[in-house]
Amino acid sequence: MTMSSLEALKKELVETVKAANDIPALEEVRVTALGKKGKVTDMMKTLGGLDPEQRKQMGQALNQLKDEISAAIEARAALLKRAALEERLKTEKIDMTLSPRPRPQGTIHPISRTIGELTDIFADMGFSVAEGPEIENDFNNFTALNFPPGHPARQMHDTFYLPDVAGQTGDQAKRLLRTHTSTVQVHVMQTQKPPIRVIIPGRTYRSDYDMTHTPMFHQLEGLLIDKTAHMGHLKGCLIEFCKRFFEVDELPTRFRPSFFPFTEPSAEMDIGCSRAGGELKIGAGNDWLEILGCGMVHPQVLKNCGINPDEYQGFAFGMGIERIAMLKYGIPDLRTFFESDLRWLKHYGFGPTGEA
Ligand code: PHE
Repeated sequence: MTMSSLEALKKELVETVKAANDIPALEEVRVTALGKKGKVTDMMKTLGGLDPEQRKQMGQALNQLKDEISAAIEARAALLKRAALEERLKTEKIDMTLSPRPRPQGTIHPISRTIGELTDIFADMGFSVAEGPEIENDFNNFTALNFPPGHPARQMHDTFYLPDVAGQTGDQAKRLLRTHTSTVQVHVMQTQKPPIRVIIPGRTYRSDYDMTHTPMFHQLEGLLIDKTAHMGHLKGCLIEFCKRFFEVDELPTRFRPSFFPFTEPSAEMDIGCSRAGGELKIGAGNDWLEILGCGMVHPQVLKNCGINPDEYQGFAFGMGIERIAMLKYGIPDLRTFFESDLRWLKHYGFGPTGEA
């Protein structure tokens, strides 16, 4: 071993490092040069045969060579790694000029939206939601609600009747599509112990069709039963509800005497509005809009549903959900709610976060 053979080895190794084009090839170079059986290691082994002066000189030179080759390999490895990363980034790049995904086309139907708003407002007043069947019997739709068989008030509901339950007679056998959500008052009173505080949103059916009537429509019923509820509570609750729903602080209201077989006394509630310039505006004005029916639950209804009228009393109310949605959102024709016209849904529907 001479200084010049060392020089030659260094040149050769530096070349092979440069020639390594990926990390595995470079690793092979490292093993052939510096590994246990590598060329530099082999030379180290021959140091023992040299005389002391030469051994010292060659030993230092060999160590230096070892360091230089290690450094060259490390530098090459860093370079190869950076190049590989750049190559990957090139293929993984995001094309910022691509247009975003199209916005979802669906909208929330004004009926669903309105039911959500009603539920929120009444939930704040302590009402929970109850539901009941749409196919009913004559007892729950009429008799229990104090419309005795043959009572003229039955004629006010254009009822869709279904075939009687086979082999049965009486008002339990007579089936129909419920004409109002008041049927669920009966179910709730039969199954829950007072105090009761529920609202009942749902579909109802009457054989009628024009600008303001469709054979299927929605109602929201309210029922409160306890020992002390009175007409003042009913009025306070409904006035508060109307102010919140229509988002007006100053809202004139009036309660007109009315008739429902299942409430006594009964009333219809009107809210103030103006129709100046042909445009309906809810709030102070010189006109009135009918909004809902209500009253104190008739003692006979409590009795029919298993609640003692000497101990308990309460109030009930019912409103058409389409009607109040039409008033709030300026929708002119009831029939359009159920035509599934996408242009209508786009116009009157709500986005997933509630935007109009
Ligand atoms: N069920 C009545 C209707 O459909 C509304 C109503 C409900 C009235 C509760 C009074 C009390 O017209």
